[in-house]
Amino acid sequence: MQQANIEELIKEAVEKLHRASRVVVLTGAGVSAECGIATFRDAQTGLWEQFNPQELASPDGFRDNPKLVWDWYEYRREIVRSSSPNPAHFTLAALEDRFEKFLLVTQNVDELHKRAGSRNVVELHGRILENRCFEEDRLVADEELDLDITPPRCPCGSYVRPGVVWFGEAIPSAPLAEAFAAARRCEVCLVIGTSGVVQPAASIPMLALRAGACIIEVNSEESAITDISHIFLRGKAGVILPEIKKLS
Ligand code: OAD
Repeated sequence: MQQANIEELIKEAVEKLHRASRVVVLTGAGVSAECGIATFRDAQTGLWEQFNPQELASPDGFRDNPKLVWDWYEYRREIVRSSSPNPAHFTLAALEDRFEKFLLVTQNVDELHKRAGSRNVVELHGRILENRCFEEDRLVADEELDLDITPPRCPCGSYVRPGVVWFGEAIPSAPLAEAFAAARRCEVCLVIGTSGVVQPAASIPMLALRAGACIIEVNSEESAITDISHIFLRGKAGVILPEIKKLS
């Protein structure tokens, strides 16, 4: 895509945003890629490439090999702990107050949106730094963990697991309902850095489209959302979003 073309498209996107009062944003791994956090399709690299995601991110995988799964998440937690939000996260946080209704729905588990200052955030797939009891699903504080064993145990004796949604698990109904309701009444749906292939998150732009919203996509490559997007801004989220903020 030519530079002039992308500038025109960004202007068009800004005009749509100016006219909107209800906005929903859906983000995926691409928004954190520039922080050094590998996207899902790229994550199985190096030491971990021999394992498939179902083995590393499912209740059955955890039951079969709790230490392997815990170690994989510790590896990813270390990356998240040492990363910081990028200009895309900060731009989204700054845009929030400009709209009457604004909801940021993310599939990311790194909490970087909140660390950048976003307040209306739905974290559909949970939070990687949280610990939950594998049996009772309650939140377990770091101080409660028995760290002498791997994986650590909850005070009830069960294993502790990361607070993310795994393959084969349902997304908690309240955040999902909030995200769907906002999608059904938004005027602009901004879709950033997601391949748009994982349900139910991928339904959000579809619901917005059916409600008559303008779909604006920011992605470094075409995705499953590109065909239904009215405006496709090809490029890195950390570059395109600050451009949107400059103009708006
Ligand atoms: P994916 O890894 O499927 O897709 C990442 C998307 O980001 C791709 O479309 C890339 O082209 C795009 N991308 C990469 N770098 C970018 C950048 N700098 N700027 C803009 N776009 C960029 O990640 P998700 O769509 O988030 O679920 O994956 C969705 C879910 O699938 C994840 O939340 C995870 C996984 O299974 C669970 O863990 C439950």
